[in-house]
Amino acid sequence: MITFDAVTKRYPDGTVAVDRLDLEAPTGEITVLVGPSGCGKTTSLRMINRMIDASEGQILLDGTPVQGIDPPTLRRGIGYVIQQAGLFPHRKIVDNIATVPYLLGWDKKKARARAMELLERVGLDPALAGRYPFQLSGGQQQRVGVARALAADPPVLLMDEPFSAVDPIVRTSLQDELLRLQSELNKTIVFVTHDIDEAIKLGDRVAVLRVGGKLAQIAAPKTLLSEPADDFVKEFLGHDRGIRRLQFISTGGLRLRTDLTGLTDAGDEPWRLVVEDGRPTGWVSRDRPDELEPYGTFVYGRDSMRTALDAALLSPSGCAVAVDEQGKVVGVATRETLDQALAEAADG
Ligand SMILES: Nc1ncnc2c1ncn2[C@@H]1O[C@H](COP(=O)(O)OP(=O)(O)OP(=O)(O)O)[C@@H](O)[C@H]1O
Ligand SMILES: [Mg+2]
Repeated sequence: MITFDAVTKRYPDGTVAVDRLDLEAPTGEITVLVGPSGCGKTTSLRMINRMIDASEGQILLDGTPVQGIDPPTLRRGIGYVIQQAGLFPHRKIVDNIATVPYLLGWDKKKARARAMELLERVGLDPALAGRYPFQLSGGQQQRVGVARALAADPPVLLMDEPFSAVDPIVRTSLQDELLRLQSELNKTIVFVTHDIDEAIKLGDRVAVLRVGGKLAQIAAPKTLLSEPADDFVKEFLGHDRGIRRLQFISTGGLRLRTDLTGLTDAGDEPWRLVVEDGRPTGWVSRDRPDELEPYGTFVYGRDSMRTALDAALLSPSGCAVAVDEQGKVVGVATRETLDQALAEAADG
């Protein structure tokens, strides 16, 4: 657990970057710091590993003030990942990853073996080990950055906008990869971003900061979306807050229809779902029985209401096709059913 206890950072020119910040980042969880540019995210993060020292207040690592731990010792237990990875350009990938093990005096063979193991762990081809950073894509470099931070298996990981320099598709895959890694590794992660969607996707808890380094709210993503503390948080969350809330509501409770004909809820036109070998192939209407129309699916019980609603919008019938993990049809959620679920969601 990392605890900020009334932490203030005043830079020599008088700028108050962080103002009496109280915060807890629980062990084994991802705590995200989010907020507009200049709100003190990086400053807060760097005070944890003492790249910056707090002016007032204390930061505690499992109850011990970090100010009392000498920086090299402190940083041995804290991995640090930054934007654009910050790799050493003249070192091969394998040696970049092994940086901390080398510093810790591991023998070269062991350190390299560890680096190779991590390369695979973060989803990279071991063949990249002998390349230099400039010979990798931005997304690959970012993965190497994560591998390097994990090399000495530190319990704490600090990540400062690690994925913000890559395109949206690569970014999504890096986020997914981080969540997968975290489910195996259970690190205590403090993750900085200015992207609220990223914060909501990754955070077990999300701390919203405002300029001047004041905490506006800290809460689980679901709570943040349903109960923003004030107008600033509301504004920061954006206008589709309601829709995004749906991603935290399970489809497990939806009542499905299993007769797939005469689904008239969407209007006068009865639609029928065509299924082959248990899989959906399309919707047909009574008037044009030979034309297969598109359909949208969601995995029943695993996907969220947001996905179910999206699936309904993609179908001319207005119904969402529920499938199991193997993609086989288990039923259909009609508009009526979805409406009901949405009404319940609106009630909280
Ligand atoms: N060395 C410094 N001296 C004076 N002021 C500084 C210094 N470093 C940062 N600041 C100021 O402190 C405030 C917080 O900076 P910080 O880098 O922590 O913000 P941030 O939330 O990480 O922003 P961004 O999203 O742009 O990275 C800003 O107003 C910044 O200008
Ligand atoms: Mg920053």
